[in-house]
Amino acid sequence: MKTLNSLAIIGTQWGDEGKGKITNYLAKKADFVVRYQGGNNAGHSIILDNKRFALHLLPSGIFYKNVCNILANGVVIDLFGLVEEINNLKKNNIKDINLLISERAHLVFPYHKEIDAIFEKAKGKNKIGTTKQGIGPAYTDKVTRIGIRVIDLFDQKYLEEKLKENIFWKNLFLKSLGINKEIDFDELLQKLLEARIIIKPFIKDTSKIIYDAILDNKKVLFEGAQGVQLCLDHGTYPFVTSSSPTASSIPLNTGIPANFINEVLGITKSYTTRVGNGVFLTEINDKIAAKIRIKGNEFGTTTGRARRIGWFDAVLIRYAKRINGITKISLTLFDVLSGIKELKIAINYSLDNKNIDCIPTLLKDLERVKVEYITLKGWDEDITNVKSFDALPENAKKYLKAIEKYGEIRIAQFSVGPKPEQTIDLEKIW
Ligand code: GDP
Ligand code: IMO
Ligand code: MG
Repeated sequence: MKTLNSLAIIGTQWGDEGKGKITNYLAKKADFVVRYQGGNNAGHSIILDNKRFALHLLPSGIFYKNVCNILANGVVIDLFGLVEEINNLKKNNIKDINLLISERAHLVFPYHKEIDAIFEKAKGKNKIGTTKQGIGPAYTDKVTRIGIRVIDLFDQKYLEEKLKENIFWKNLFLKSLGINKEIDFDELLQKLLEARIIIKPFIKDTSKIIYDAILDNKKVLFEGAQGVQLCLDHGTYPFVTSSSPTASSIPLNTGIPANFINEVLGITKSYTTRVGNGVFLTEINDKIAAKIRIKGNEFGTTTGRARRIGWFDAVLIRYAKRINGITKISLTLFDVLSGIKELKIAINYSLDNKNIDCIPTLLKDLERVKVEYITLKGWDEDITNVKSFDALPENAKKYLKAIEKYGEIRIAQFSVGPKPEQTIDLEKIW
């Protein structure tokens, strides 16, 4: 088979690695940008012409009218959220929206968000810390086979029947919990009938379109949401999201053959963050964490929550490489580390005094893991205007080299600020 021009963009940690910035940067050269999982739990910040945009559902190539942006079958779509995002772009004078939506994608309804919040509350101290966007309950309906898909919006009789059935079950559930609130069928139906008009022109069988594009050697970017450690199957379960952000989920979630992904680029933050609950081995809670949080603007794009901060963890990167077939990484938020006297990198885990080059499946084992660190000297210089590897301070160069050594991965690109021009390519990405 000839070389394909498809590239997967995967968050290698717990999300918020800068996937939006890098996807947008690479999208200028792309023909297609495809979101394949998650929903508006994602928050991808992009700075363009000094304006900040927060995308939740729309792919990060949406600013370019020559790029076809696709929401594939694996995404769960909050119709009202999507319409709001489209309107927000229009308000900002981005009017030529080049978007396609898979008719097979499932919908997220307001009742999913309510159920998400109810489950979180019921879990008390064991809550996951979800974004409360209804992601878990929407995927639950999909696998329970009671979900409602985009295509169903256009068969009113079927839609009414399915919506009634769903609302019946949801109301019964609310009642059983003693919650004195009923979901109103007529009101929801009316709102859906209005919103469907806006998305109607975008609805297609996107699987065939992506398949044909890849065969035709078009440049196709797959934009992951979340990160490997939030993967439903390979992350720190149960403190994960309800889909798989890994490269292996792309074929299923877009409807293309497994061998249609040519390369996998990992997006990796120069330190680690996590938003939501769950074990975070390299977490720090001191003044350095506070400094990184402010400098890196580490507050959730979707929920505004302060992100937890930790040292770079090379074990996570080796894991992400193995699970996804990552061939190279883009290292982001590197500028944030200027002005820190000493920097630590986690290089190995051990459990019961034995080295383990894996992430234990049981949370109670993960909690007991001992982390081995190396310590490197930091640098004071501001690097936000640096344009090459050679222009970096010596200690910054050593930090990058250590990430390559212990992460067992090549850094193909690094980023020293949120703007597209603050991106340094060390090799051709695609
Ligand atoms: P995503 O979810 O992976 O797209 O990441 P988010 O957008 O949620 O979070 C990344 C944050 O870092 C955003 O505020 C970006 O604007 C910002 N950002 C991305 N790359 C860089 C960088 O190299 N340096 C700095 N200082 N900020 C960056
Ligand atoms: P992007 O694409 C960071 C986290 C939540 C919570 C867990 C489950 O911006 O990197 P969910 O609402 O999905 O049921 O929440 O997953 N989470 C994210 N954390 N970045 C994200 O997306 C996230 N999407 C979900 O905080 O811990
Ligand atoms: Mg984010």
